[in-house]
Amino acid sequence: SAEADLACSAAPIHLVTRPQRRLQSQNTHKGEFGDVGVLGGAPGMEGAAMLASSAALHSGAGRVMLHLIGSTGARPSPLAPDIMVRGLSDLLAQRGALVCGCGGGTAIAAVLLQVLARSGPLVLDADALNAIAAAPALKQALAERATHGATVLTPHPLELARLLACTTAAIQADRISAARQAAQQLQCIVALKGSGTVIAAPDGSCAINHSGNARLSIGGTGDVLAGCIAAHLASLPSEAQAAHPPLWTQTWQRVLNAVWLHGHVANTWDLQHRAQPTLTASRLAEALPRQA
Ligand code: APR
Ligand code: MG
Repeated sequence: SAEADLACSAAPIHLVTRPQRRLQSQNTHKGEFGDVGVLGGAPGMEGAAMLASSAALHSGAGRVMLHLIGSTGARPSPLAPDIMVRGLSDLLAQRGALVCGCGGGTAIAAVLLQVLARSGPLVLDADALNAIAAAPALKQALAERATHGATVLTPHPLELARLLACTTAAIQADRISAARQAAQQLQCIVALKGSGTVIAAPDGSCAINHSGNARLSIGGTGDVLAGCIAAHLASLPSEAQAAHPPLWTQTWQRVLNAVWLHGHVANTWDLQHRAQPTLTASRLAEALPRQA
């Protein structure tokens, strides 16, 4: 259990049991809620990018912009009127947080150097992680990115095994060490997903998330998490998002909040909808609360 992990670990590990409220003035405007760009959704996997987009929107992003890999990006989707469709270069030029890789397929590899060169908060998931694991030059570019932008990786155990060139069993045998090793090596915040998501930062900080349940073991919930984290990072003031070096403490707190809220929605669903069999990823995205 998380408590046992805490007891056994030499270094202090934070147990995430609720979100930390942001200090927020009454005098806010929509620009403060931030823009999220989503890059992924290769042919046949558009749903993954749509789920990340929806999660960002429902988490309170001011605007969500989407580029589907391999598309011309010219036409908005009539099925998703809340989401703006952009060409690749327009998406990368936008301010705000970017989430990259959900349903990205192998084609995502070709754009990753451009993505990593962009400043501002970046969430890398799924096929973006697989592409980085397969290319030493991309790994190097990722580690060097720490000087100009905060990066958050959201691997499941197999994706982290690929990044660390080991087995899934080795990752699961010591999830805390694995997340810490990746965070240090790649100079990113790493959220190693699964029951008791482990979040680690380059400075050695580590936390175990307490919310969530097996309702989340269904396709697409990871894409929802990536979009949710991006929206939380996009709510940082724009000067803070562009800070060199990145503001790791604020980034860290927002990642913890997002991971906790994602699991909390599943817990609430389980209590309120016992008779309903399935929390789909779409429903999860729609049930996400605006940020605490
Ligand atoms: N308890 C708590 N949380 C859970 C549990 C559980 N029993 N099971 C799953 N989760 C959570 C994880 O912590 C994570 O946040 O659900 C999410 C699952 O994310 P992924 O493993 O990324 O699953 P998915 O969204 O379906 O991925 C879609 O992308 O990552 C690739 O190869 C993957 O094809 C798959 C696709
Ligand atoms: Mg996934």
